[in-house]
Amino acid sequence: MAADDSRPESGAFFARDSTVHPPALTPSYKTSVARSPKHAKLSLGTTLSEMTGPVFGHDLLGDLDNDLILNFAAPGESAIGPRIVVHGRLLDERRRPVPGALIEVWQANAGGRYRHRKESYLAPLDPNFGGCGRVITDDEGHYCFRTIQPGPYPWPNGPNEWRPAHIHFSIFGHGFAQRLITQMYFEGDPLIPRCPIVRTIPDEAAIRRLIAPLDMNHTIPMDARAYKFDIVLRGRRSTLFENRLEGN
Ligand SMILES: [Fe+2]
Repeated sequence: MAADDSRPESGAFFARDSTVHPPALTPSYKTSVARSPKHAKLSLGTTLSEMTGPVFGHDLLGDLDNDLILNFAAPGESAIGPRIVVHGRLLDERRRPVPGALIEVWQANAGGRYRHRKESYLAPLDPNFGGCGRVITDDEGHYCFRTIQPGPYPWPNGPNEWRPAHIHFSIFGHGFAQRLITQMYFEGDPLIPRCPIVRTIPDEAAIRRLIAPLDMNHTIPMDARAYKFDIVLRGRRSTLFENRLEGN
């Protein structure tokens, strides 16, 4: 059943809507066969440790942490690829801003290759591109980072499968247990509806919320295009997060 957007908001608590999540076992996404649970769910109560514990220090961020074009580049050089700005707001279920959250991003380079020792794609590495960055939301929940548009890449799920261009997002709240993971896609990418991972999501509206539209208002003339990606933490308009549902 798809999420019902006509439901009124009621109260501050929203149980996670499992109907917009992919089933744990989706054989078209090959690794889900090995990952999916073989036993019945167990339910564990939450404890104080999910709300407390060590937190990151805001002063740890460097000046270039939200600039993937420069943060791994040699002095005077920059990453190769289409220059873009990605920005948006982190919001709660009532569209109130969430300030002070750490957003980390990672992505392939313009050729679709990750800087990772297990990466096997033949596209070349860009010596001036690391592929990761981070930013903290401001008082209005805004975040913004500059990067190059990642390329699509093939992956060994079937004979000829390609991931659409995407950027991985991690959002940290104020405790280590408050971490959410998702992926942002780019408006107009014809690989999105063909992707076996995207197709595991049963709710079309949930898929649309993962696709960032081109935002001409925030382009930088003669420099960079812009994409807008708002992230909603909870509620019926919640962004789809990849974190496992309880018991899975
Ligand atoms: Fe990826």
